[in-house]
Amino acid sequence: MIRIGRCCLLLSLLTCTPAKSEDGPEAGSADPAAQFSRKVLLRQFDRNRDGRLNDKETSVLRDAFGGIDVPMLPDESYDYTHVDRPGSITPEQLRNADNTPEGNPLTNPGATLGRVLLYDRQLSENGAVSCASCHDQKAAFADPRRFSIGFNGERTRRNSMGLTNIRYTHLKGRRPGFFWDERAPTLEAQALMPIQDEIEMGMKLKDLNKKLGKLPYYPPLFAAAFGSTEITSERIARALAQFMRSMVSLRSKFDRAAAAAAEKDDNSTDFDLFTAQENLGKSLFMEGIGGIAEFGCAVCHPPPTFNMDKAQNVGLDLKYRDKGLGALGRQSNEPFTPSNDGKFKASSLRNIALTAPYMHDGRFKTLDQVVKHYSSGVQPHPNLGLAPREEEFGAPGTGFHLSKDEQAALVAFLRTLTDDQFVSDPRFSDPFVRAPH
Ligand code: HEC
Ligand code: HEC
Repeated sequence: MIRIGRCCLLLSLLTCTPAKSEDGPEAGSADPAAQFSRKVLLRQFDRNRDGRLNDKETSVLRDAFGGIDVPMLPDESYDYTHVDRPGSITPEQLRNADNTPEGNPLTNPGATLGRVLLYDRQLSENGAVSCASCHDQKAAFADPRRFSIGFNGERTRRNSMGLTNIRYTHLKGRRPGFFWDERAPTLEAQALMPIQDEIEMGMKLKDLNKKLGKLPYYPPLFAAAFGSTEITSERIARALAQFMRSMVSLRSKFDRAAAAAAEKDDNSTDFDLFTAQENLGKSLFMEGIGGIAEFGCAVCHPPPTFNMDKAQNVGLDLKYRDKGLGALGRQSNEPFTPSNDGKFKASSLRNIALTAPYMHDGRFKTLDQVVKHYSSGVQPHPNLGLAPREEEFGAPGTGFHLSKDEQAALVAFLRTLTDDQFVSDPRFSDPFVRAPH
C-alpha cells in the first residue's frame, strides 16, 4: 500500500488510482477528487480499522505522500450552496445583499477546493502559514492576536478580520470593497492579495500555480471544480471566494428570536426570546440612543447582515497613524467629511463576541471597551461619521453618553449575534491530515 501511495506522486495524477484494485467504484467514479475521500484514505491507511487514523497511521499516510499534509475530504461533498434562512429574513433581502458575481456562482466542488486552499500552508512562500493561520474558525475566522504573524515571522499592520457573512455586503445600493480600507473591489480580487502580500504569504502567483500543480490533490480538485486540471490564479481566486461566500451564519440567538417574533407577526420591538437586558440593547442598537434612529449603531452596522456599506470614521483618535481609506488617495466618500482619513470598514458584527480584539488596530480587548469608546471616548475628528458628531448629543465628538446599564445592555445584545454552530461546522473546518505532534 505504501509503495503504491509513493508511486502515486510520481505517476500522472489522474491515471494513478492507488485504491483502484480495492476500491473499484469510487476510484473511477465521477468525482475526480474521490481518491482523497475519507473512505478511500481510511481503506488504505486505517490499519486497525477503528474508523480513524491514529498517530502511527497518520505518519504512514504522510510518508506515502512524500511527507506533506494532504486533505481528507468527506465521502459525499458537503452542501455549501444551501442557505439556512430564518423566517425573519426574506429571500429578497439576501439576494439584494449577495455579492456573488455572475461569473463565479457558488458550487460544491468549487467551495470544496476553496476550503482546501484556505487551509493549505503551501500557499505561502515557505509553507509556514495558510489563510487560516490568521483566520481561525474558532474566532469566526478572525485572529485572537492583535496583529497576525506572516510567513516570515513579521507582524501584519492591522488586526485580521472575521469572515462571517462576507457574501452579504451589498447594502443600500453600495458595493463596499474588502479589507479595513476597502482597497479590494471584489472578493475574487481580495483573495489573491494576501497570497502576494510581503508580510502575509509572500508568494508570486506564477510560482504558486506551478507549486500547486505538483501537489497530488490539486489537479483532481481543480478538475472537479472547473472541468480541467489547469491551475490558474483566476481559478484559485474564484474557489477561495466561493468558499468564503459559503460561510453564512444566520443561526444565532438573534435569528431565533427574530424568527419567533416574525412568526407571531408581532411587530412590537421586544423579542420574547430575549432577556430584558438584551431587548434594551437591541433597542439602543436598532432604534437608536434616545429613540433617534440616526443615533443608533444600526445606521452603520445594519441588520440582518450587520455588515457596513462603507468606511467611516468613529473618532478613535484625533490623528490617525494609519489613515485607512484616506491613504488610498480617493475623494471623500461623504459630502460632510473633508477627507477619508481615519475611515475604516469593519466586517460583519455577527459572531463579534468571538473575534476579539477589536477595531482595525485591535486596540480594544473586549466589547465592553468598544462600547465604552462609543459612549464617552469618541474624539472630535473632522471626518467623524454622522451619528456621534451631532451636537444634540452633548458635546460634539465625545460619544453617545450611555449609562452603565445601557452599555452592558449593548454588549449583551452583541452577544446574541453569536452562532455556535458556525464555529464548529465541519464544512468550514481544516480538511488536512496534519502531522502528529
Ligand atoms: C498573516 C495573516 C493573514 C493571512 C495569511 C491571511 N490574512 Fe486575510 N486578513 C489579515 C489581515 C491583517 C486583514 C486586514 C488587512 C487590511 O485591512 O489591510 C485581513 C483581511 C482579510 C479579508 C477582508 C475581510 C473584509 O471583511 O473586508 C479577507 C476576505 C481575507 N483576509 C481573506 C484571506 C484569504 C482568502 C487568505 C488566504 C489566501 C488570507 N486572508 C490570508 C490577515 C491575514
Ligand atoms: C458612524 C458609523 C458607526 C456607528 C454609528 C457605529 N459604528 Fe461600530 N464601527 C464603525 C467603524 C467604522 C468601525 C471600525 C473602526 C476602526 O477600526 O477604526 C466599527 C467597529 C465596531 C466594532 C468592532 C468591529 C471589529 O471587527 O473589530 C464593534 C463591536 C462596533 N463597531 C459596535 C458598534 C456599536 C455597539 C455601536 C453603537 C453604540 C456602533 N458600533 C456604532 C462604524 C460605526
